[in-house]
Amino acid sequence: MAKVLLGFMGAGKSTIARGLDPDYLDMDALIEKRLGMSIAEFFAEKGEEAFRQIESEVLADLLQRDQVVSTGGGVVISQRNRDLLKTNSDNIYLKADFESLYHRIAADKENQRPLFLNNSKEELAAIFQERQAWYEEVASRVLDVTELSPEEIIEELR
Ligand code: S3P
Repeated sequence: MAKVLLGFMGAGKSTIARGLDPDYLDMDALIEKRLGMSIAEFFAEKGEEAFRQIESEVLADLLQRDQVVSTGGGVVISQRNRDLLKTNSDNIYLKADFESLYHRIAADKENQRPLFLNNSKEELAAIFQERQAWYEEVASRVLDVTELSPEEIIEELR
Protein backbone atom coordinates (compact mmCIF):
# COMPACT_ATOMS: atom_id res chain seq x y z
CA MET A 1 0.00 0.00 0.00
CA ALA A 2 1.24 3.50 -0.83
CA LYS A 3 2.24 5.75 2.08
CA VAL A 4 1.00 9.23 1.21
CA LEU A 5 2.11 12.51 2.74
CA LEU A 6 -0.57 15.18 2.81
CA GLY A 7 -0.55 18.78 3.95
CA PHE A 8 -0.66 22.41 2.94
CA MET A 9 2.05 24.01 0.82
CA GLY A 10 5.23 24.45 2.85
CA ALA A 11 4.51 21.56 5.24
CA GLY A 12 7.63 19.72 4.07
CA LYS A 13 5.92 16.81 2.29
CA SER A 14 8.70 16.24 -0.28
CA THR A 15 11.53 16.65 2.22
CA ILE A 16 9.94 14.15 4.59
CA ALA A 17 9.08 11.72 1.78
CA ARG A 18 12.71 11.80 0.60
CA GLY A 19 13.89 11.15 4.16
CA LEU A 20 11.56 8.17 4.51
CA ASP A 21 12.45 6.69 1.14
CA PRO A 22 14.98 8.09 -1.34
CA ASP A 23 12.93 6.44 -4.11
CA TYR A 24 9.77 8.29 -3.12
CA LEU A 25 7.37 9.52 -5.80
CA ASP A 26 6.81 13.26 -6.00
CA MET A 27 3.39 13.99 -7.46
CA ASP A 28 4.12 17.58 -8.49
CA ALA A 29 7.38 16.55 -10.20
CA LEU A 30 5.56 13.80 -12.12
CA ILE A 31 2.82 16.23 -13.12
CA GLU A 32 5.40 18.73 -14.39
CA LYS A 33 7.10 15.98 -16.38
CA ARG A 34 3.78 15.09 -17.94
CA LEU A 35 2.90 18.74 -18.65
CA GLY A 36 6.32 19.56 -20.06
CA MET A 37 6.25 22.82 -18.13
CA SER A 38 6.15 24.10 -14.57
CA ILE A 39 2.91 24.01 -12.61
CA ALA A 40 3.02 27.82 -12.39
CA GLU A 41 3.24 28.08 -16.20
CA PHE A 42 0.42 25.57 -16.65
CA PHE A 43 -1.83 27.47 -14.21
CA ALA A 44 -1.16 30.67 -16.14
CA GLU A 45 -1.84 29.05 -19.53
CA LYS A 46 -4.69 26.62 -18.85
CA GLY A 47 -6.00 27.48 -15.42
CA GLU A 48 -6.49 25.64 -12.16
CA GLU A 49 -9.33 23.39 -13.29
CA ALA A 50 -7.21 21.82 -16.05
CA PHE A 51 -4.44 21.30 -13.50
CA ARG A 52 -6.82 19.57 -11.06
CA GLN A 53 -7.90 17.14 -13.77
CA ILE A 54 -4.34 16.04 -14.47
CA GLU A 55 -3.58 15.96 -10.74
CA SER A 56 -6.43 13.44 -10.24
CA GLU A 57 -5.18 11.22 -13.06
CA VAL A 58 -1.63 11.21 -11.70
CA LEU A 59 -2.90 10.48 -8.19
CA ALA A 60 -4.86 7.44 -9.38
CA ASP A 61 -1.69 6.13 -11.08
CA LEU A 62 0.51 6.71 -8.06
CA LEU A 63 -1.82 5.00 -5.61
CA GLN A 64 -1.30 1.73 -7.47
CA ARG A 65 2.30 1.69 -6.29
CA ASP A 66 3.60 0.39 -3.04
CA GLN A 67 5.78 3.44 -2.31
CA VAL A 68 6.08 6.69 -0.38
CA VAL A 69 4.26 9.48 -2.24
CA SER A 70 4.44 13.23 -1.61
CA THR A 71 1.34 15.06 -2.84
CA GLY A 72 0.49 18.64 -3.80
CA GLY A 73 -1.36 20.54 -1.10
CA GLY A 74 -4.57 20.77 -3.12
CA VAL A 75 -5.01 17.05 -3.75
CA VAL A 76 -7.74 16.83 -1.09
CA ILE A 77 -10.03 19.42 -2.71
CA SER A 78 -11.94 16.91 -4.81
CA GLN A 79 -14.27 14.34 -3.31
CA ARG A 80 -13.06 11.83 -5.90
CA ASN A 81 -9.45 12.23 -4.78
CA ARG A 82 -10.45 11.96 -1.13
CA ASP A 83 -12.33 8.73 -1.84
CA LEU A 84 -9.35 7.35 -3.75
CA LEU A 85 -7.03 8.20 -0.89
CA LYS A 86 -9.32 6.76 1.77
CA THR A 87 -9.57 3.41 0.05
CA ASN A 88 -6.09 2.97 -1.41
CA SER A 89 -3.39 4.38 0.83
CA ASP A 90 -2.04 5.02 4.27
CA ASN A 91 -2.32 8.83 4.60
CA ILE A 92 -0.27 11.00 6.90
CA TYR A 93 -1.27 14.63 7.38
CA LEU A 94 1.69 16.89 8.18
CA LYS A 95 -0.16 19.62 10.04
CA ALA A 96 1.27 23.05 10.82
CA ASP A 97 -0.08 26.49 11.68
CA PHE A 98 -0.79 28.94 8.90
CA GLU A 99 1.74 31.60 9.91
CA SER A 100 4.65 29.11 9.86
CA LEU A 101 3.54 27.75 6.51
CA TYR A 102 3.07 31.21 5.03
CA HIS A 103 6.61 32.23 5.99
CA ARG A 104 8.02 29.09 4.40
CA ILE A 105 5.99 29.52 1.20
CA ALA A 106 6.96 33.19 0.91
CA ALA A 107 10.65 32.40 1.48
CA ASP A 108 10.75 29.61 -1.12
CA LYS A 109 12.08 31.41 -4.19
CA GLU A 110 12.79 28.19 -6.08
CA ASN A 111 9.19 27.04 -5.99
CA GLN A 112 6.92 29.97 -6.80
CA ARG A 113 3.50 28.51 -6.17
CA PRO A 114 0.64 29.90 -8.25
CA LEU A 115 -1.78 30.01 -5.31
CA PHE A 116 0.75 32.13 -3.42
CA LEU A 117 1.31 34.42 -6.40
CA ASN A 118 -2.40 34.82 -7.21
CA ASN A 119 -3.86 35.30 -3.72
CA SER A 120 -3.49 37.73 -0.84
CA LYS A 121 -2.36 36.40 2.54
CA GLU A 122 -5.98 36.59 3.76
CA GLU A 123 -7.23 34.63 0.76
CA LEU A 124 -4.56 31.99 1.26
CA ALA A 125 -5.50 31.73 4.95
CA ALA A 126 -9.11 31.08 3.89
CA ILE A 127 -7.97 28.32 1.51
CA PHE A 128 -5.93 26.83 4.36
CA GLN A 129 -8.94 26.91 6.70
CA GLU A 130 -11.23 25.36 4.14
CA ARG A 131 -8.88 22.43 3.58
CA GLN A 132 -8.36 21.44 7.22
CA ALA A 133 -11.41 19.20 7.43
CA TRP A 134 -10.48 17.51 4.14
CA TYR A 135 -6.96 16.63 5.26
CA GLU A 136 -8.36 15.29 8.52
CA GLU A 137 -11.08 13.34 6.72
CA VAL A 138 -8.60 11.23 4.75
CA ALA A 139 -5.71 11.05 7.23
CA SER A 140 -5.07 7.85 9.10
CA ARG A 141 -2.50 9.81 11.08
CA VAL A 142 -2.16 13.51 11.88
CA LEU A 143 1.25 14.77 12.97
CA ASP A 144 1.68 18.34 14.17
CA VAL A 145 4.99 19.32 12.61
CA THR A 146 5.01 23.02 13.52
CA GLU A 147 7.70 22.62 16.19
CA LEU A 148 9.51 19.60 14.73
CA SER A 149 12.68 19.46 12.63
CA PRO A 150 12.65 17.31 9.47
CA GLU A 151 14.84 14.76 11.27
CA GLU A 152 12.37 14.53 14.15
CA ILE A 153 9.43 14.12 11.78
CA ILE A 154 11.20 11.36 9.83
CA GLU A 155 12.10 9.58 13.07
CA GLU A 156 8.48 9.83 14.22
CA LEU A 157 7.13 8.33 11.00
CA ARG A 158 9.61 5.51 10.51
C1 S3P B 1 -1.06 23.41 -4.68
C2 S3P B 1 0.10 22.99 -4.10
C3 S3P B 1 1.34 22.76 -4.85
C4 S3P B 1 1.03 22.42 -6.32
C5 S3P B 1 0.14 23.45 -6.91
C6 S3P B 1 -1.19 23.60 -6.15
C7 S3P B 1 -2.24 23.65 -3.83
O1 S3P B 1 2.08 21.69 -4.26
O2 S3P B 1 0.44 21.16 -6.43
O3 S3P B 1 0.82 24.67 -6.92
O4 S3P B 1 -3.36 23.79 -4.35
O5 S3P B 1 -2.07 23.71 -2.58
P1 S3P B 1 2.89 21.81 -2.85
O6 S3P B 1 1.91 21.55 -1.75
O7 S3P B 1 3.91 20.73 -2.97
O8 S3P B 1 3.47 23.17 -2.81
